[in-house]
Amino acid sequence: MTNAFESEELTRVGPGTAMGQLMREYWLPAAKSSEVPPDGDPLRLMLLGEKLIAFRDAQGKIGVMDHRCPHRCASLFFGRNEDGGIRCVYHGWKFDTDGNCVEMPNLPADQDFKEKVKAKAYRTKERAGLVWVYMGARAEAPPMPEIEATLLDEAELLPMFAQRDCNWLQALEGDIDTSHFGFLHVGSVRPEHVGDGDMLKYQVGNRAPAYHVADTDWGTMYSAYRPAEDGNTYWRFAHFGFPFWTWVPQGDITDRVQARAWVPMDDHHTMFISLTWKKMTRMPPLKSGQPIPGAAPVLDYLPKTTDWFGRWRPAANVSNDYMIDRDAQRNDVIYTGISHIHMQDQAINESMGEIVDHSFEHIAPSDQMITRTRRRLLLAARALRDKGTTPPGVDDPLVYAKARSGECVMPGTDWQQVYEDRLKQVLRPVTFRQAAE
Ligand code: FES
Ligand SMILES: [Fe+2]
Repeated sequence: MTNAFESEELTRVGPGTAMGQLMREYWLPAAKSSEVPPDGDPLRLMLLGEKLIAFRDAQGKIGVMDHRCPHRCASLFFGRNEDGGIRCVYHGWKFDTDGNCVEMPNLPADQDFKEKVKAKAYRTKERAGLVWVYMGARAEAPPMPEIEATLLDEAELLPMFAQRDCNWLQALEGDIDTSHFGFLHVGSVRPEHVGDGDMLKYQVGNRAPAYHVADTDWGTMYSAYRPAEDGNTYWRFAHFGFPFWTWVPQGDITDRVQARAWVPMDDHHTMFISLTWKKMTRMPPLKSGQPIPGAAPVLDYLPKTTDWFGRWRPAANVSNDYMIDRDAQRNDVIYTGISHIHMQDQAINESMGEIVDHSFEHIAPSDQMITRTRRRLLLAARALRDKGTTPPGVDDPLVYAKARSGECVMPGTDWQQVYEDRLKQVLRPVTFRQAAE
């Protein structure tokens, strides 16, 4: 059970909170590189409860900094992105992408003190078509994580962004809660609808899997398992990785190169960022040749605004009950009546409230991956806060290389050995790097 005190520790991400400090140890993906064009408009970016702006100068360098000008706190969102820096429009002070004040044009030359003033700027990098930000205190930023999908070139990836209006933890927990798949997403699919070679048949034939869970070097992992034919077992392997990554099991493990980040914007908003290898095998159609009803492939978005929460907002949302189709629900065409797998999860996560009241829960054995992950997060956040212990993966970016999720049918009883054996046979489209760039 998660008590009220632990709940606070787990969910709050602002500066000075236990989880917020843990998150600040890591590189965080924050935006698409294309959202920040050279000499373009500053972008409002909310990250870990901090209001930031992002901009790219004419040379291509990205700046991510506190939106408040260090002079008298006017918002640099209104600034002019010009000649290698952002100029505050209040009194004309100008800052480069590292936050150095390079001009103070409202002061006589003998009163200029620009070398003493710095905007609060964070380190940035670009990888996999994403802008990454390091918000921690180290003089030398840590290496970037060796997460398989993030090592692919942008051209080989399908990125997806979507804002979720709830706390990051309950959003992430949807990804490590595998038994919901047989209800929320495919509750109306019957075994006779599924082709013989489709591993979905095991899930719709048995909606109550057994579990193994364990701590790992990168976070936690589980296998949900069910009996298959000829003494084999149908295994679903999936992972949590520090601080907010998941690898979900739906799909063949052979080429399942994908990673999902649940990046806290503040305590009540989360940016979901997923990277998927374009060559990854897609979910097969049902026996009828039709896709799974409700599994619409593309998300519709509201028009972007410049608000802190104006990017990547799905068109189906709480204001329209996620466009639920009660006839489709009643007639068992779509179990939820809600189209798109992501939106089915979104509706459910947001329906729990901005932050789940953990004291109201009745955690079941099917939730053991969730309880283990909460514990792993709590212990790491407390060890950092109380003893200064560096959390997992920060200085060992290669620990993430072993996190691959997906399904397979294999013999064996030792689930971790089955995972190790299967991992040796998967496709590896990337080479893991030993050290940071
Ligand atoms: S507030 Fe920005 S230059 Fe004065
Ligand atoms: Fe889901």
